[in-house]
Amino acid sequence: MTDARFTIEQHPFTVGDFERAPERFEVRSVPRSYGVRWDDRAPRDVVRELVLASPGNVLVVDRNVQRLHLADLDVPADRVFDIDATEEKKSLTHGALPLIAFFARREINKSSRAIVVGGGITQDVAGFAACMFKRGTPFTLVPTTLLSMCDSCIGAKTGVNHDGAKNQLALFSAPREVVIDPRFLTTLAPREVQSGLGEILKLHVTGGPVALDRYEALVPDGTAGAIDTARLKPLILGSLAVKRAVVEVDEFELDLRRSMNLGHTVGHAIESLSGYAIPHGHAVTLGMLVVNALSAHRGMLPADEHARLTRLGRDIVAAGSLATLRGIDLGRLTGLLGKDKKAEASRVAFVLVESIGALRFVALENDAALAAEIGEIVADVARG
Ligand SMILES: NC(=O)c1ccc[n+]([C@@H]2O[C@H](COP(=O)([O-])OP(=O)(O)OC[C@H]3O[C@@H](n4cnc5c(N)ncnc54)[C@H](O)[C@@H]3O)[C@@H](O)[C@H]2O)c1
Ligand SMILES: [Zn+2]
Repeated sequence: MTDARFTIEQHPFTVGDFERAPERFEVRSVPRSYGVRWDDRAPRDVVRELVLASPGNVLVVDRNVQRLHLADLDVPADRVFDIDATEEKKSLTHGALPLIAFFARREINKSSRAIVVGGGITQDVAGFAACMFKRGTPFTLVPTTLLSMCDSCIGAKTGVNHDGAKNQLALFSAPREVVIDPRFLTTLAPREVQSGLGEILKLHVTGGPVALDRYEALVPDGTAGAIDTARLKPLILGSLAVKRAVVEVDEFELDLRRSMNLGHTVGHAIESLSGYAIPHGHAVTLGMLVVNALSAHRGMLPADEHARLTRLGRDIVAAGSLATLRGIDLGRLTGLLGKDKKAEASRVAFVLVESIGALRFVALENDAALAAEIGEIVADVARG
């Protein structure tokens, strides 16, 4: 039996034959579904074909990816907009508005397509700008990081940072198509691979025992450097299968999709407090370690499962991120938790882990006791 079964607030999900997650599928979405396909030809050929498919198409590309993979693309320079993929530039002023000005200069219309090539930051800025420009410019996503291939390329969320907090200006903006070319990953730094593994672990914990066993078989000791495409492919397709199951039920996060924020309540705060020195996926892993402890303290998550999740999480957090965590001011953590989009008045929304493959939503009072509890857990996690 290789079906992945899991529950969110007791709502049952099944991902049929998890080991054979498809490499071409549709994601049901509003107002229209979009296709996801695997294409492992040379990145230059894949991107060039997409850009030249129509004279109105433009390329929005991460500057590093352009240099590493698309230097000889041979597309007119005035059809290309490059993005400096940093959290500081993932903002309205420095990210979205300049891109909107480019769309306006190019007189982009509904029959043009923006081909967006980059990681989560590039996707967030471009998806946000495309959604705002003339109430929706069609775009195709070509993810280039592990994180963006396994998670952010589907689900239609986009957002930019504002006022010192993550994704405060945010929209739903679905792509027309997603094309995954694993060859981009050959140049990805190990810490970015680890960042992707954070979201992959989140999706495999969500996906339940079958999914997590598979994760453990493919990432035996968390050594991201040793991972090859043959192992990454099932991890990426498995992650997308779990995420797709959830977003197809609740694309607009009215309820069950909140589960995808597992590890993010504390993770986003840690990420911001570190001045973005801790990459998103590392922060999510740290956030999951905190949430696992919060769950165990509340009588959920059996001890053996807690120990397993602690080991899997610690395996993929880089020593550098732990060192940064030790240096940040934990006193500001609860203040930032209140700023999280999921927060309601004095309570903070957490996704807790009842057991592997069973998630629960719990709102905790954002008081001194919670601050002390989280402070203690974070300090323990940071000791390594
Ligand atoms: N919208 C969503 O659903 C969603 C989901 C998860 C994360 N996110 C967001 O995604 C962002 C993180 O994205 P990310 O981890 O994909 O990376 P990123 O876009 O932050 O890029 C990380 C670094 O890798 C570089 N890079 C990208 N592709 C490369 C390649 N193929 N080879 C070498 N270097 C490459 C970039 O230039 C950058 O320096 C965060 O801002 C996070 O909040 C969004
Ligand atoms: Zn995330």
